[in-house]
Parts: sequence; structure tokens; C-alpha cells
Amino acid sequence: MATDDPLILIVDDEPAICRNCIKILSKMDYGVKYAFSGYDALKMIGENQFDVVITDLKMANLGGMEVLRQLKKAHPETMVIVITGYASVSSAVEVMKMGAFDYLPKPFTPHELRAVVHQALVEREMLLQNQRLRYKIKHQKSFSHQLIGDSPKIKKVITMVQKVAPTDSTVLVYGESGTGKELISRAIHANSARKDKVFFAVDCGTLSDKLLESELFGYNKGAFTGAHKNKDGIFKLAHNGTVFLDEISNIDLNVQSKLLRFIENREFLPLGSTAIQKVDVRLIFATNQDLKKMVDQGSFREDFYYRIFVYPIMVPPLRKRKMDILPIAYHFLRQFNQALGKNISGFDDNIISKLTEHDWPGNIRQLRNVIERAVILCEKDQITFQELPLLGEMDDTGQLIDYIPSTNEDFKRVKKEIRHKAVLKVEKNFIMNALTKNDWNVTRAAQKVGLQRSNFQALMKKHNIKLPRYGQSNP
Ligand SMILES: Nc1ncnc2c1ncn2[C@@H]1O[C@H](COP(=O)(O)OP(=O)(O)OP(=O)(O)O)[C@@H](O)[C@H]1O
Ligand SMILES: [Mg+2]
Repeated sequence: MATDDPLILIVDDEPAICRNCIKILSKMDYGVKYAFSGYDALKMIGENQFDVVITDLKMANLGGMEVLRQLKKAHPETMVIVITGYASVSSAVEVMKMGAFDYLPKPFTPHELRAVVHQALVEREMLLQNQRLRYKIKHQKSFSHQLIGDSPKIKKVITMVQKVAPTDSTVLVYGESGTGKELISRAIHANSARKDKVFFAVDCGTLSDKLLESELFGYNKGAFTGAHKNKDGIFKLAHNGTVFLDEISNIDLNVQSKLLRFIENREFLPLGSTAIQKVDVRLIFATNQDLKKMVDQGSFREDFYYRIFVYPIMVPPLRKRKMDILPIAYHFLRQFNQALGKNISGFDDNIISKLTEHDWPGNIRQLRNVIERAVILCEKDQITFQELPLLGEMDDTGQLIDYIPSTNEDFKRVKKEIRHKAVLKVEKNFIMNALTKNDWNVTRAAQKVGLQRSNFQALMKKHNIKLPRYGQSNP
């Protein structure tokens, strides 16, 4: 075991269970210790810094509840997983309320144990990260405009930016909407020899083909109706600078072929002119589309594709680099604190997993909007669930109740959602209660509550309720 391997304590008065857990977990590069009673466990907790404690609930010498209670008081950052053969809905609810990370009914499979320990370690890392960032926000006055993130994925992007920035190479930045493609393109310019020259951003998605062409290449008087005088295009205006062509997938085939010529020798003809012009510009392209697929479908020129695919930088979506979520959230918190004259010190530990487990389909832009809204709403020292209802929507009815609708439509939608979620919750409790009260005998449970067995089973399936393995009467 290496010194920085996670340290885990197993507490169970049945030696066989301890042995079994040790066997399962020591394959994972974890350091594992054990105690046969709650009393011994508390002694060991005083002497070691455990990352995760797995404790049985019912033990002769000091039970799991007490271990959990004392541990949470002394080491709130230690993750506690409760295991027990006496599972019941109420004890599960109780240990979760007392701050347990999770609850694992016996018997469990090695895979289940490994999975829950892994999740606990991830959560613990996030909470520690939150602590560090909370400390930093207090002690760091200014913030940088750089690309934020510690994940290996964003670090790779940063290295790629650093390597290509000083060259004149054409770059293609691609990734989902809101991942930071424009920010990366600006960083390339800012780290190049052209940094004091102009950076021209052109949104190819919003301009018609004709307009885009005349904007890029310029035109001579009389080139088309309305061309009353000569006009310089962006390429000429950006001489010695960088031109960023955003949403390149929207360019039509005709403009693509003109751009292809321009990429090859930086020469172009303004519309209606016969005098070739030559400029020195660096080109950066961006897209959120799969250009290769467009090539296969015939809507993107293959030669153009290969000409811009010289140095592609793939920007991964936020959900693939969860480690970056908190540092970026704190970055925006600092920004909006400053902009809105607030002094919010961080995010409440209880919402960290909500932030990091959220899917963020709109990526960093969505995160930015959510934080901005939270900072506006927050009147306390820390941001809690109350200010993050947009995430709550995806989770529990309880959080949804705190949501503040902005329009009548919004209100109606939330009303429907709350009703739907509340019914789901009650339905699940209903089925679980019937099962636990009837020793997990489906036929008897269905009969007792007055449902047909098939309907009862359908509800079990809907809520993903599985019978305990090994035919035990109590899970
Ligand atoms: N790594 C990062 N660190 C800090 N802020 C970031 C980071 N990446 C993106 N941002 C911020 O997120 C927001 C969205 O980024 P950007 O506009 O560059 O995304 P995009 O990929 O161009 O989106 P779209 O495809 O919708 O145009 C911006 O406010 C940007 O400053
Ligand atoms: Mg963009």
C-alpha cells in the first residue's frame, strides 16, 4: 500500500464479514483496517485519518448509529457507509439524515461494495476540493481570465494551446456548445506574436452566405445592388491579426471553396474586383458539428475539411471532466461577487454533489448562468439549494418546492412536475413498505395491499426494486 492510498475502516462484529470486505477492497489499492466493535472503531478513529468507514448497524458493543454520530462530529469529512442485515426503510432514512454517505443492505456483491466505496471516495475528494476553494476565494483578491480547470482533459487542451499559439498554423477548435471554444481561440491569439493586433470573431451561423462572403472578402463599388462604394473585408482589416471563424459548419459549399483558396496562399479577390489582394492573417475555426459526418453526407467539402483539420483541438464536455466543475463554479462566483458587489464565501457542502453530478448539457455557459442567478438570489454567506433550484428540478420534489417560477407557463410546468414526482415517491414507498412488511414475498405483498401480482410487479420494475439475493427473508 502506498502512503497516499485511501484508508478504509471496516467495523463489524462478525469476523467473516470483515474478512470478506478486506478481501474485496484490498484488491483496489486501498489500505484496509478493521474493528470488531463500535467501541474499538472509535478508538482507531482517534488514531488514524480514515477516508471511508464502513460500519455495521447492529453490534453488541456500541452500534453503528453511535459510530456514525461520533465520527461525523470528530471527522465530518470521513465518508460513512452503513451496512446491515436488518434493512428497513426507516433505519435507512435515519442513517442518511445523520450524514451517512450511503446504505448497503446485506448481502451485497463485491461489485456493489467496490462501487459504493469508489463513489464515496469521489464525493470526499469533491468536498475537500470545495474546502480548498472556499479558503482560496477568501484569500485571493483578483481572478484570472484564463482557462480554469485541473482535469487531465483540460490540461491537455491547455498544452495544445500553448504549443500551437506561437506558430501561424490554422487551428480547428471543436466541441459541444458552451464548452469554451471561443475562449480557447482567444487564448491562442493572446499567446501568439499577434497578441497586440486585432482578433476578429465572425459568427458564420448568423450571416447569410452572400453577406458572409462580402464581409470576409470585401467588395468594390457596383459589385452588387447596394454596393455604392468600395468596402474592405475582414481579412484585409485583420491584416497581421487573427480571424476566428465560428460555426464553420454553416458556411455553404461556394464560400468554402473561396476560403480554401484563401487558406492556401492568403490571397483573395474582393467581390467585383480583379485585383488580387494578399494579407497575413492567422485563421482559427470552430464548430460544434461533426464535420467528418458532414463530409460523408456531402454538405462539407472534403478538401476544405482536410485543410482546416491540421491542428484540431477537441474541447471535452463538462460532464466528462467533473473535476473542473467546482473550480470553474468558484471562478464565476468570484466574478459575480465582484460584479454584483456581494461577498459570498462559497458553496454549501450539501450541494457539491448536485453540482458535480449534474449533466450540464449546456456546459460551462450553463454553469455560468446558474451561478449568476444563484449569486443574485443569495442573501447568505453560502450558496445553498435554495439558490440552485435549476439543479433541484432534476432531483427531488423537496428542492423543486423552493423553485421560484418566472412566468405562469413556468409555474404550470413546475406544478405538474411536483405532482408527478411526489406521486412517484409515494408509490415507491408504498411498494417498498408492502415488500418489507411481507418478507419480500411478492404474492403476499400484492395480496395484502389489494393489487394484482402482475401490477405489483410492474410497479417494482418501474421503481427498479429488486428482490434481495440468496433468497434471504430480510435484505
Ligand atoms: N475553462 C474555462 N474556464 C473558465 N471559463 C470558461 C472556461 N471555458 C469556458 N468558459 C466560459 O464559459 C462561457 C462559454 O464559453 P465559450 O463562449 O468560449 O463557449 P463556446 O464553446 O464558444 O460556446 P458555443 O458553441 O455556444 O459558441 C464563456 O463565458 C467562457 O468565458
Ligand atoms: Mg462560441
